[in-house]
Amino acid sequence: MDASEVDALRIAALAAFSAATDSGDLEQARIDHLGRRSPLALAQKQLGGLTDEERRRVGALLNELKTAITEAFDARHLELGSVELSQRLASERLDLTGPARRIRPGRPHLLTQVEAEIVDVFLGMGFSVAEGPEVESGRFNFDLLNIPPDHPARGTMDTIYVDEDADIVLRTHTSPVQVRTMLAQQPPIAVVCPGRVYRADAVDATHSPVFTQVEGLLVAEGITMAHLRGTLLAFAKALFGDDREVRLRPSFFPFTEPSAEVDVSFESASGWLEILGSGMVDPAVLAGCGIDPERYSGFAFGIGVERVAMLRHGVADIRDLYDADARFLAAF
Ligand code: PHE
Repeated sequence: MDASEVDALRIAALAAFSAATDSGDLEQARIDHLGRRSPLALAQKQLGGLTDEERRRVGALLNELKTAITEAFDARHLELGSVELSQRLASERLDLTGPARRIRPGRPHLLTQVEAEIVDVFLGMGFSVAEGPEVESGRFNFDLLNIPPDHPARGTMDTIYVDEDADIVLRTHTSPVQVRTMLAQQPPIAVVCPGRVYRADAVDATHSPVFTQVEGLLVAEGITMAHLRGTLLAFAKALFGDDREVRLRPSFFPFTEPSAEVDVSFESASGWLEILGSGMVDPAVLAGCGIDPERYSGFAFGIGVERVAMLRHGVADIRDLYDADARFLAAF
C-alpha cells in the first residue's frame, strides 16, 4: 500500500461524511470507512504479513489515515448534531404570543344555586340548617308527623320502601329532619332542612321521583299565623322580587293545623302561582316530639326547590334540571 492509495481512502471517507445529511447516513458512512470491515481495518489486518520495515511504514500511514478519518467523522458528527438540534428546536417552538385557549370554568348546578339561595334567605332571618338521612324510618317520616299507617301517603304508590317489614323508607319529605330536631332540643327552634326526597312518581314535565326540598320549622312561645305569613312574604320577595305579594289558601297536611298553600303574585302569569305548603304545627306533633303544646306553638313550611328554580328561570320541563345538558347548564 502506498501513499496514493491511502489518499484515495481518505478522500473517499471524507466525501462520504460530507455527503451524509443526517446522523443515520453518517453512521452508515462511519461503518463503511472506520468499521471492522472497512478497507482501513482490512489493511491493518494485513500488516502482519509484511516485512518489519514495510509494516512500520504502512502502519504509520494507516495510523495517520485513521486519525484523519476519525477527525473528519467527529467534525461532521458535531456539525450534523447541531443542525438537527436546531431543526428540532425550530419545529418544537411554542408561540407564546398566540391567543390562549378559552377555559370554561365549572359552576354549581342551577338547583344547587337555588337551594343555596333559599337557605341563605332563612339564615339571614336567624334560622340554622339541619340535615338528616335520606333513608329514614317510617316513624320519623310518618308516625310522628301525624300520618297514621292507613293514610294514603303511606301507600306504596307514593312511598319508596327500602325494607317494608322494618318500615324503612326513602324519605318522602325533609319533615323527619324537623322531627329529629324537636326530639333533640327544646324551643326556641328555627331550622331549615334542605335535601333530596323521594316519591314513587312517574317522570313527566313536572314530576320526578327524586326532587329537592327546603323545609322549615319555627317553634317558640307565642308564634302565630302572622309570623308564618311575614316569614314567607320575606322569602317570596327575596327570591322573586320586592313587588311580590303572598296569598294563603286553606289546605290540608296531617302535621299542620291550620294548613295553608302559599301563592306568590306574578304579573306575567294568571295572577298567582302556588309555591309552597305550610301551616301551624299540629299540637299532637309537638307533644309527640316532647314539646309542650300548651306553652309552645310553631309554624312549618315546605318549599320545592325545582319549582322555585323553574318559576324563576322559566324552565318548562323539570327533566331539564336533571339531564346534565351542557348547553342548558351553561345558561345559569
Ligand atoms: N312536608 C310537606 C311535603 O313534603 C310540605 C310541608 C311542610 C307542608 C311543612 C306543610 C308544612 O309535601
